[in-house]
Amino acid sequence: MKKAILYVFSGTGNTALVAELYKKYFSDYETVIYNIHKTGEEETVPQPADFDLVGIGYPVHGFNAPQIVNDFCKSLPKMNEGGADTGSGSKKTFIFKTSGEGLTYNNYSSQKIIRMMERKGYEFFTERHFVMPYNMIFRHSPQMVKSEYIYADAQVRLNVKELEEGRKNKLHYFPLRYWFVPVVRIEWLYARLQGPFMKVDMNKCTRCMKCANECPMDNIVFKTEGADGNKKESFKFGTDCTLCVRCSFNCPQSAISIGLLNNWKVNGSYHIKQTAEDASLEFPYFTEKLTGLYRWLFYKYYRRLDKELAQNGISL
Ligand SMILES: Cc1cc2nc3c(=O)[nH]c(=O)nc-3n(C[C@H](O)[C@H](O)[C@H](O)COP(=O)(O)O)c2cc1C
Ligand code: SF4
Ligand code: SF4
Repeated sequence: MKKAILYVFSGTGNTALVAELYKKYFSDYETVIYNIHKTGEEETVPQPADFDLVGIGYPVHGFNAPQIVNDFCKSLPKMNEGGADTGSGSKKTFIFKTSGEGLTYNNYSSQKIIRMMERKGYEFFTERHFVMPYNMIFRHSPQMVKSEYIYADAQVRLNVKELEEGRKNKLHYFPLRYWFVPVVRIEWLYARLQGPFMKVDMNKCTRCMKCANECPMDNIVFKTEGADGNKKESFKFGTDCTLCVRCSFNCPQSAISIGLLNNWKVNGSYHIKQTAEDASLEFPYFTEKLTGLYRWLFYKYYRRLDKELAQNGISL
């Protein structure tokens, strides 16, 4: 049986959930999922040369890929013949990215990675964009979450079909509308600088250590200063943050503030799979009745997807 490796970064679980769907639906491939994180020197990363298909999965951050994903892709070895920088290799590769709304600007986030990896001999077949619940800015309603997951499941089945049939289907870009994406990449610098602005309210905190233990960048340290009776406890955030918001999103006490972005903080799991199974929730949600901001953010995305699913005989 052929083998697939999915290199996945996921701050709050959305992209990881989509990766699990790929693993579930690939029937031609035995699938391994590798979670991208800050690695120690002794750690070994599964090598693309040992697989027939490579997938890269990430959440869109500020219309870009998170820096850790970019750096990870940079570290992958060349697949060109003899390791030369010819761009003529043929390691079959695809991208899947998740974001909180459906605007086509999110498509541009892969450009830098694709250009860099094509030079190294990775041949991109498909690129797919999944709308999943926002972990920033505003909380999606349970009705939205249900629709998003059911559509994600269908889109994975569509993508698996394309990949197993060897079809190419890349997203389209309008270069004139793309100029500002590198500008927004300032977020990479901001993510590193914002460490000192992240704070834990020690009165709310129960010292469960979930935040420190689960940070993918090993960026949170618990400190105790002073002697018994005059002990002062605190959390220190370093400069390796990739702004994935896993710490603040998953804190059971909502005790972590995320600096300048705190007004956009979303706290608490969406329990996506359970929500999608709740028969009492209206489905589909993203229909003609959408108005205003929601229509702008989601309507076209779902109509394009409806069309593609119908053309390929994929049902919801
Ligand atoms: C710092 C940050 C920036 C984000 N920027 C965007 C964005 O530009 N466009 C968008 O649609 N969603 C944006 N989001 C939302 C996430 O892309 C979305 O919720 C994604 O599914 C999260 O995936 P994860 O759970 O795998 O981390 C952003 C989230 C964060 C934390
Ligand atoms: S996850 Fe929240 S409650 Fe737990 S240690 Fe961190 S800040 Fe405290
Ligand atoms: S400090 Fe929080 S936001 Fe930054 S990388 Fe760690 S878990 Fe993610």
